[in-house]
Amino acid sequence: MTPNPITLAIIGAGNRGRETYGRWCLRHPVRAKVVAVAEPDLTRRITLAAEHSIGPEASFDSWRELLGGPSRADAIVIATPDREHAAPTIAALEAGYDVILEKPIASTADEVKAVGEAASRSTGSVTVAHVLRYTPFFSTVKRLVDEGGIGELVTIEHAERIGYWHFAHSFVRGNWRNEGLASPMILAKACHDLDLVRWLAGDRCVAVASFGGLHHFRPEQAPPGALDRCTDGVNRCPAAADCPFDAVRFYIDRVGDVAGWPVSVITDDASPAGRLAAVATGPYGRCVYHADNDVADHQVVMLEFANSVRASLTVSGLTADNTRTILLSGTRGELRGRLDTGEIELRRYLPSSAPASVGPWDRDELGRAALRGDDAIILNATPVPLPDGHGGGDDAFMTDVVARLRARRDGDPAAAAALTSLTASLDSHLMAFAAEESRRERRMVDLGD
Ligand SMILES: NC(=O)c1ccc[n+]([C@@H]2O[C@H](COP(=O)([O-])OP(=O)(O)OC[C@H]3O[C@@H](n4cnc5c(N)ncnc54)[C@H](O)[C@@H]3O)[C@@H](O)[C@H]2O)c1
Repeated sequence: MTPNPITLAIIGAGNRGRETYGRWCLRHPVRAKVVAVAEPDLTRRITLAAEHSIGPEASFDSWRELLGGPSRADAIVIATPDREHAAPTIAALEAGYDVILEKPIASTADEVKAVGEAASRSTGSVTVAHVLRYTPFFSTVKRLVDEGGIGELVTIEHAERIGYWHFAHSFVRGNWRNEGLASPMILAKACHDLDLVRWLAGDRCVAVASFGGLHHFRPEQAPPGALDRCTDGVNRCPAAADCPFDAVRFYIDRVGDVAGWPVSVITDDASPAGRLAAVATGPYGRCVYHADNDVADHQVVMLEFANSVRASLTVSGLTADNTRTILLSGTRGELRGRLDTGEIELRRYLPSSAPASVGPWDRDELGRAALRGDDAIILNATPVPLPDGHGGGDDAFMTDVVARLRARRDGDPAAAAALTSLTASLDSHLMAFAAEESRRERRMVDLGD
């Protein structure tokens, strides 16, 4: 590839902006180069600027300055907190930029619609970081369904099992704990899942019903004698030994060998002393029963699609695993999968009759399975251990979006269509708001036309 990288300006130099997108560019300098940054936190701004050799003339503490001046990059990456997505995205579109936008598009339905309207007026484009679509696991599931591996798809049972420690980290003590600060949990955590379910269903959603709430992480569930913090640096909470959410055990012992996420979220000093100081004084040492969290810790959503596919989505923060599982049932078979192991099991009701539309690799497997008399084929879509960054989705997403930006910039007529469109993303976000409306008002929401 001729080294003429796509130039990117990053707005929000945190975990995603710096560690995911910034580092991808450092690993692929021929494809993309970060040339400008906007970040109000001085240390983060300086760190990202130093990593990418960005001078002071292209480092800003506000996105308004970055977007207000002359054109600075081929595209803008928006990786700010949820509530800071809509305004910079609309401003970037008005300036004609292509935008790589972190999910969610915005925190409210009105803002989501405003982003859609701005995109329709702009020469620029928006690609929402629905990175799971790009994982080897979900792309294999999608291909098998589209190739007719289970006949006609009838139902989808999808679960997002967040993991008790991950939920405590991000949704009880962390950035997404409180709707006033971020978004409803079903949007913040599960807009990926709603997008996946809609993508697999292959049509728009017409009706939504949902139940859920904040069951566990509330003061009345605290063990007797629990303190407001897991430690003050010297004394431990007397309930610690019997508490699965003890921050000292988690950040210092259990992920003691990890310096990146989730430790990098709580401190820049990953030494035991640095972690202990963060837990003793920062938000990540708060008692999970006495934090200022208000988002649901579990939610069930039922969905009906225009093509009559019906789906259920269960999202729970009280699970042992941190993964996603899926079961798709069709007229000729069923497909069961699990993201963290990459395992996909395809079981056909008539094992010896591979449909002509199934790809050659499947036909081989189906043939072997038929000889063995099996009706189950087990595939590993994802090498184990799982690739970093959302099961390989982060890397594949950037590879795709940067290649498309480049093809567009260079007028390449062979530019591939994106795997995800803003229209589909807008739709999946409106499904999340409908689920929230249903959960709160205890009624089914008809999405009609
Ligand atoms: N696609 C995914 O799977 C995925 C995964 C994790 C997070 N996210 C999303 O990415 C976004 C960022 O999450 P994060 O974990 O990187 O958070 P973070 O807090 O680590 O980083 C956000 C950064 O934005 C900066 N910021 C705040 N206001 C700003 C402003 N007005 N202008 C410029 N910068 C500003 C903050 O100082 C911070 O450095 C969130 O919306 C989150 O929901 C998406």
